[in-house]
Amino acid sequence: MSVPVTATLDARPSAPKGLLAQLASIVGGYHVLSDPDLTAGHEVDWTGRFTGPTPVVVRPRNPHEVAAVLRACAQYRVPVIPQGGNTGLVGGGVPRQGEAVLSTTRLTDLEPVDRLSGQVTVGAGATLAAVQRHVREAGYDIAVDLAARDSATIGGMVATNAGGLRVLRWGPMRSQVVGVEAVLADGRVMNRLSGLPKDSSGYDLTQLLVGSEGTLAVITRVRLRLIPLFTDRVTVLLALQDTATALRVLALVRGSVPSLDSAEITYADGVALVHKHLRLPSPFRTPTPYPVHLLLECAAQRDPADDLIEALERSPDLLDSAIATDEPSRRALWAHREGHTDAVNAAGVPLKLDVAVPLEELAAFEQEVRGLTVRHAPGARLVLFGHLAEGNYHVNILDAGDRDEELSEAVLRAVARRGGTISAEHGIGVAKARWLSLTRAAVDLDLAAVTKRAWDPEALLNPGVLFSADPA
Ligand code: FAD
Ligand code: MLT
Ligand code: ZN
Repeated sequence: MSVPVTATLDARPSAPKGLLAQLASIVGGYHVLSDPDLTAGHEVDWTGRFTGPTPVVVRPRNPHEVAAVLRACAQYRVPVIPQGGNTGLVGGGVPRQGEAVLSTTRLTDLEPVDRLSGQVTVGAGATLAAVQRHVREAGYDIAVDLAARDSATIGGMVATNAGGLRVLRWGPMRSQVVGVEAVLADGRVMNRLSGLPKDSSGYDLTQLLVGSEGTLAVITRVRLRLIPLFTDRVTVLLALQDTATALRVLALVRGSVPSLDSAEITYADGVALVHKHLRLPSPFRTPTPYPVHLLLECAAQRDPADDLIEALERSPDLLDSAIATDEPSRRALWAHREGHTDAVNAAGVPLKLDVAVPLEELAAFEQEVRGLTVRHAPGARLVLFGHLAEGNYHVNILDAGDRDEELSEAVLRAVARRGGTISAEHGIGVAKARWLSLTRAAVDLDLAAVTKRAWDPEALLNPGVLFSADPA
């Protein structure tokens, strides 16, 4: 299989006779979409890179309906793509060859916050923003945050083990999930929503579903660990000379400011793109473009600004800085970082690689990626940005033409050589499936294949994701 996987929308697949009527009897006709005008939005991913036709999008309202939908699809042997907010960036949530799409966007129930345990159970189709609003009203917060918060669903975030902007302090989605309810391809329901903080009774099937990208089961409800809602935040944007300096500043702050929540790195070319796209002025006193921006944010119950400023005063390397404590000014600084994904997409359909390397490798890896881009795709535009504390770069390449595959392979091989991962937080999807063997041993891949067969013996859930018929 070659990537990206595309299919023309001309030759539209049709559903087996009887399936649409059966689905309509389960969820109601209004939630069974087969008109191409209505399915179109579900057939292309957020980047516009991955697209394929579906005969039907079905929108169940609760776990019972999900189970009945999956049983019906299994009966007709129609493979199913679970889809949440469709903000995934590796092509795993859109159809490829005529699969049905099971949209979770109506699984939005929010249970009351359980103050005793500091946990909450939510429907898998609830957006991150909806859950944030819900738990913040009760004085809590969810520890994972990302720019796609208005569309990304909790189920999709669990399925991809999403990371985002606060991982350095709180860990990724995996660290927040204390239970799930999920429906297997044959319609059986697995319920692990007790949220017991201690449970050593055998395999942890909840955690197995984190990062499973819709290949093992459809997640219907999620129980999340909550953190306190911090009252005080300070955000600084620093202008620096290079990546090595950013790492030195990170080490200094990390070692002395326990309330550090975020450390995000961007570079001059990406920042210029964001400024143009959002018509943003420079955040600094002078409009000079600086090579590197490092955004740091601290969150606490008492103003953490003094701690952060004190730490930064010990850093001789700052070219410029901007600081914000009130919400509108903080959001204005964040726009320089969060605007990257949109700005890159507005400039074309990007090749997106989401990788991480050990921090001591990061500065050299940055130079290597710049060199590989020039060598393999002269004329292409590279936009790098990411989550510094995890060594997690988002490698975005525009205008690579037909060099996409060659360049992907070169970058991912460099990652593997340096002891990194070919996906830090977006997942493998179809985009990286053929390169998984670069960083996973044969025994790991064998066990993964056996696991897949045990959960989904008919291979009906998300075929093509994680497992490649054509490994590199
Ligand atoms: P979808 O895109 O619909 O699906 C993603 C995958 O999960 C697919 O394989 C799908 O089959 C599967 N899936 C979805 N729902 C379920 C379910 N209920 N049960 C089983 N499988 C399911 N990601 C980060 O990690 N960090 C970031 O900082 C970040 N920032 C982003 C910023 C922007 C502007 C955008 C567009 C994306 C960003 N992402 C980021 C990526 C994206 O938001 C995540 O991958 C998100 O977790 C996917 O959620 P979703 O509901 O959109 O899932
Ligand atoms: C981000 O950190 O902004 C994202 O993961 C999205 C992207 O890679 O574009
Ligand atoms: Zn990211």
